[in-house]
Order: sequence, then structure tokens, then C-alpha cells
Amino acid sequence: PVVAVVLAGGTGSRLYPASRSHRPKQFLPLAGESGESLLERTVSRARDAADEVVVVTRESYADGVAARVPDADVLVEPAGRDTGPALLYATHRIARGYDDCVVLALPSDHLVGEGFAAAVRRGAAVAAAEDRLVTFGVEPTRPETGYGYIEPAGSAYDGPAGPAPDGPAGSAPDGPAGSAPDADWRPVESFHEKPDAETARRYVEAGHYWNAGLFAWRPEVFVDAAASSPLAPLLEALDESAEPPTAGGPGATAAFESVEPVSVDNAVFERAEDVAVVPVSFPWDDVGSWDALERVLDADGDGNVTAGDVALRTLDAADNVVAADDRHVSLVGVSDLAVVAWDDRVLVVPKERAQDVKSLVRSLEERG
Ligand code: GDD
Ligand code: MG
Repeated sequence: PVVAVVLAGGTGSRLYPASRSHRPKQFLPLAGESGESLLERTVSRARDAADEVVVVTRESYADGVAARVPDADVLVEPAGRDTGPALLYATHRIARGYDDCVVLALPSDHLVGEGFAAAVRRGAAVAAAEDRLVTFGVEPTRPETGYGYIEPAGSAYDGPAGPAPDGPAGSAPDGPAGSAPDADWRPVESFHEKPDAETARRYVEAGHYWNAGLFAWRPEVFVDAAASSPLAPLLEALDESAEPPTAGGPGATAAFESVEPVSVDNAVFERAEDVAVVPVSFPWDDVGSWDALERVLDADGDGNVTAGDVALRTLDAADNVVAADDRHVSLVGVSDLAVVAWDDRVLVVPKERAQDVKSLVRSLEERG
């Protein structure tokens, strides 16, 4: 079977103050007409693409997850240590439950369009058929600095590197008619996480992909790669514990707590030898920062967009992003700003500096 692991333990700090440590980005109904949170939409997408769905999160979000997706299996990690430890923990647990399966790792905080299920099933099929970790690549449309980039091997590539496998273990990859005839997969040369603007421009020109933050692997392939990574001590502790650790429980919890926070990209994918990138072409946006909203929402006649519950009045104001929980907002003579009012907090930032909100939040946390 294909087992989807939905990652729901991050905060999404660049969407402060809508996103806060007690109300992470995946709990927000961002840019959704249904009012459903990003997490709820992710779980229904995952159910279309996989046979089983597990949500992995930190203890402080467990209740919020259960309230939003009451039918989902929830796995609580003993400590929040970024996506590397979370995915090793989930994969290790899944490997104990199934003889033969593919793990599909999905972020819970993206906006995704038609064609997702068929595309990720294609990637799961590659993971099932090859001794490779699989990553998914989106063709860039701008030199975005908020994403990682995937450099495929060999610039003279002109066709699929591998034959189309028959499908994921135990399920038929019957994608909708008209899904894009993408190449099956390409070997990966290297990964480049969140470059500066100039470097991002070069990557786009060179034909690198955006790292969609989506992955697929057979548990044994992932565990093998983790064994020679910074996750090795955690792997050892998980192997030794009869019962998988749970939040607050004994066993390998200490090992979990002592591992340094590290993303799966950094800990595993950047070091692994045999990684495949599966190009995908469904609409995809990480909506990672406030400027992203103008890509996914309809603007008024002056290019202003609103999110949340906002009554906006403007006088000579253009190309602004305004978000609020329940507010009447007026803008006069300003342009290219993000103006956000949530709870008792207000943020004003030029759209072009929207990525810097992450550093702001870090300094707010330090000062308390
Ligand atoms: N369970 C758990 N535990 N989930 C976590 C944790 C954790 O400690 N930390 C983050 N997550 C979840 C987030 O909630 C999100 O759904 C997902 O893992 C990805 O984490 P982000 O922190 O949002 O990563 P990113 O956006 O900075 O970067 C990654 O995704 C980009 C695409 O969105 C990288 O893979 C980039 O290369 C990629 O371009
Ligand atoms: Mg993200």
C-alpha cells in the first residue's frame, strides 16, 4: 500500500501574526472558499492519493489536529525537531506495520490544484520500483527565494530516464485522462535550499526544479539513507526500543530530544546518492509568505487582495495584500505593502520583504 504521512508540526512563521505558535499556518483556512483549513484540504487530498493516511505532529498541536481531522490517524512525535526526525519516526513506525509499502510524505500547508493524486501516485510507483528516494519537482515560474531547488543530473536530458513502472505496490495508478505526460523521473545531481535572488535566477535559467516538499520512499531505502545521516543516533534508538516512543513516554524519547533539529532535505536528501526527481505539473503554491496571496487570490481593480475577514476601503492604494481576522481596514496612498491584523497584533511590511517576517518572529520569540 501507499501510506501518506502528513507533516503538521511546523508553525509557518512567515505568515505571522495570522500564524502563531498556538495557531500554525496549517490550521488557517487560507485562501479557501470552503473555509476549510489547509490541513483539512491536505488530508482529503492525501486520501485520494494513498491507501492510508497518518498525520504526524507535535504534542501541542495534537488537539488542534484532532479537532480539524477527527477521522485521521495521528502520530505525536516525542519532540519537535523539524521534518527529518518526524519523518524517520513515522517511517520507522510504518515499517513495523507493513511488509511492503511506500511512504508518501506531504506538507500540510500548501495550496494545490487538479492533478495532484495522479502525479504523486506516479512518484510512489517510481519509489516502489527503484532503489531510490523520490522527490517531486515543480517547474519554476519565477526566481522564488522561499523554496529549495533541485538540480537534475545531466543538462542534455531529453527523455524519461526510467521506464514507466506498473504502479504503486498494490494499487492501480489510474490517473485522470488528460494528466500531463511528464517524464517519469530524472536522477538528481544536487539540492540547493532557499537561495538568494540572484542565485535563484540562475537556477531558473539552468532548468532546476522547485522542491515541492513532497517525497516518496520505501521504508528500507529511507532507513538505509538515514543510517549515514545526522539522524543515525535516533535511528539506533528507534531500532532498540520495543515500543515506538510517544510524547511524554520513555524509550527512545531521550534520543529524540537530543537530536538537533534538521529538515529531511538537509539530513537525508542532500546526502543521499540515489535520488530521483519526478517532475509534476499540477498547480502548486507553498503560500509561505504574505506576498504569495496575490498569486492565489483575485485582486480588486487596483490590484489589492484581501484574505480572512476584511472590509477594505482604499484611496489611491494599489497592489497591497490585506489580511485580518475581522476588521475594517483603510489604505490611503500606499502600494506594494502587506498589512495584516490578527488577534491583537498588526504587521506592516513591504511585499518584497515578506520573507524577512521569519527573522522578525525569531526576534519576537527571543524577547518574549
Ligand atoms: N511533524 C512535524 N514536525 N512537521 C513539521 C515540523 C516538525 O518538527 N517542522 C515542519 N513541519 C511541517 C510543516 O508544518 C510543513 O507542513 C512541512 O513540514 C514543511 O516544513 P516547512 O517548515 O514549511 O518547510 P519549508 O517550506 O521552509 O521548506 C520545505 O518545503 C519547501 C516547499 O514548500 C523544503 O522542502 C523546501 O526545499 C521546499 O521548497
Ligand atoms: Mg513550507
